[in-house]
Amino acid sequence: MINGKKVLFSGMQATGNLTLGNYLGALRNWVTLSEEYECFYSVVDMHSITVRQDPAELRKRARKLLMIYMAAGLDPEKNCIYYQSHVSGHAELAWILNCFTYMGELSRMTQFKDKSAKHADNINAGLFTYPVLMAADILLYQTDVVPVGVDQKQHLELTRDLAERFNAIYGDVFAVPEPYIAKVGAKIMSLQDPSKKMSKSDENPNGSIYLMDDPDTVARKCKRAVTDSEGVILYRDEQPGVKNLLDIYCACTGRTPQEAVAEFDGQGYGVLKTAVTESVNAILSPLQTRVSELEKEKAYVDSCIKNNAEKAQYFANKTLRKVQKKVGFPERPR
Ligand code: TYM
Repeated sequence: MINGKKVLFSGMQATGNLTLGNYLGALRNWVTLSEEYECFYSVVDMHSITVRQDPAELRKRARKLLMIYMAAGLDPEKNCIYYQSHVSGHAELAWILNCFTYMGELSRMTQFKDKSAKHADNINAGLFTYPVLMAADILLYQTDVVPVGVDQKQHLELTRDLAERFNAIYGDVFAVPEPYIAKVGAKIMSLQDPSKKMSKSDENPNGSIYLMDDPDTVARKCKRAVTDSEGVILYRDEQPGVKNLLDIYCACTGRTPQEAVAEFDGQGYGVLKTAVTESVNAILSPLQTRVSELEKEKAYVDSCIKNNAEKAQYFANKTLRKVQKKVGFPERPR
């Protein structure tokens, strides 16, 4: 608890361009939950370097991501929005947790398997221990809830296991976090291949709607979205392309799948695609406008970055000192 509120932590990688999947699966829920919890939202740049990055590009993307957090409606005066690399406790706790994590556990992580297949020339140790750094991110703030998309569920389970393992040895050191996975939008699929999740790193740009796509690009991508030859708009697994479009529509408009199916009864796919386009653009346009305003408010954004890094560091250190003491590191002379 911080200031009488439960704690929420979440983060995104500043790798590639953010997609509608990131927004609907995570960011949108962050905004909804932000009043109820004491929130930490990190731009997890340390995670990004598990895959080779262009330094200037990474720095640029990280700042843009931070502004997207703000533009989506997270008030940086109320929510701690910061760069992971500005708070040294993440790396320090990750090291300690590494010593409580088994190789076998990490080998079972599906994201490690996927990423090492994709980057076969650079299967580095950081890629392998990535979930431990993620656990450190979360446990550092005594987090109660972690809003994420479905793809992060396995990492959350490992985080809980590590917290429980550590607590069983040393007493109640960490809060054991719960994942928060929304009912709608937690797994937005590629528009070109609805068996794959929409991803920042997809080689086919038509598969993903990026948060910075202009209205015409969104329209073109929706128009080209893969559907089927059934010709009916129903929300079911046999029609994955249509189901995904309905998911996007529902997540953007707040409708339930049943309501959407009733609304499109007797209509063709063209009508659905136009409605999806409009619902997506209604969300992206104000977001993009706010990002371009923030790009001009350099001093304001810089001051938020500084203040929030200090705030995060303060809470991170509280947990870290406790953990360091528990494992037997010598006390620091005052
Ligand atoms: P990342 O950067 O890949 O994704 C950020 C968030 O977006 C969600 N997401 C999706 N949701 C629905 N449909 C999709 N197609 C889709 N694609 C991505 C993800 O589930 C995530 O919530 N390891 C994390 C970053 C991280 C983190 C953390 C998250 C590092 N430390 C601590 C929470 C807590 C990642 O790579 O997310």
